[in-house]
Amino acid sequence: KIPIIIDCDPGHDDALMLMLAFGSGRFDVKAVSTSAGNQTQDKTLGNALKLLTLIGQRVPVFRGAEKPLHRELIIADYVHGETGLDGPELPVPTFEQESTPAAEGIAHILEASSEPITIVPTGPLTNIALLLSTYPHLKHKIKRISLMGGGIFRGNMTPLAEFNIYADPEAAAIVFESGVPITMCGLDVTHKALVYAEDIARFRAIGNQTGTVAAGLLDFFSKFYRENRTELHGGAALHDPCAIAWLMDPEMFQSKSCYVRVETQGAYTTGATVVDFYRVLAQKPNVEVVYDLNRERYIDLLATSIAALP
Ligand code: BDR
Ligand code: CA
Repeated sequence: KIPIIIDCDPGHDDALMLMLAFGSGRFDVKAVSTSAGNQTQDKTLGNALKLLTLIGQRVPVFRGAEKPLHRELIIADYVHGETGLDGPELPVPTFEQESTPAAEGIAHILEASSEPITIVPTGPLTNIALLLSTYPHLKHKIKRISLMGGGIFRGNMTPLAEFNIYADPEAAAIVFESGVPITMCGLDVTHKALVYAEDIARFRAIGNQTGTVAAGLLDFFSKFYRENRTELHGGAALHDPCAIAWLMDPEMFQSKSCYVRVETQGAYTTGATVVDFYRVLAQKPNVEVVYDLNRERYIDLLATSIAALP
């Protein structure tokens, strides 16, 4: 099993990411920490505890930072609703978070581990930047960072900036410049990781509680896409599970090693990931940039993982 630590901001697509991570049976999930992003820290943390309760998994959960390193918090309630997970009913959590804050909690796990661990962030990168800047001596214990964020040719907050990077660009810059190998599943691939009404029906038809909740979440989530992203022709971009699926089966994706920097002070481009896709700068690549996938296989992985959960 691949040892991982997940840092997320659930979030509808974060919820499906957790179902894939735990249901696939391919990962040894050492901990889950939460970032403020889709909703406030209080809500994303509560949502993580509810989701883990739903899927019958108990791992250490760490509370992350309340807000970005240097900026005010922005949330995506226009996609994820008032609770951050609007739609279906979720169980009351049966356990609580650890008392240690996220960066410190993750540092302890890395320190104690005999093998390097992969970190999977699917929200703003505040916690991971704090980890890297406070405990730089632990970098060698991080095997890779497989994240959802950024994009080569498009944004969803501004024409060039994607939400997770835009929310805390200074944190993203620290992560991208850390020297730790990075896999970036940005909007280029996640806008091809589409889920349609028939896929939602398939998850619902599995008949277990995880499938019912997954379908309810996706019903709510896909409404935003149907109304605001008509370019996707009825599909909803299921972003976050890509960061997990790439670790399971990189062959089902297309990617390229590129040199990537994060823009923190552009007039029009703050929060953009500047990807040297054609290698015009001749710099050493620091990121495996993922830009396409086999959608059918992606949906199959999700369905199989959901079926393996309660
Ligand atoms: C990212 O932003 C969030 O709303 C989603 O959960 C995903 O991580 C997509 O831009
Ligand atoms: Ca997310």
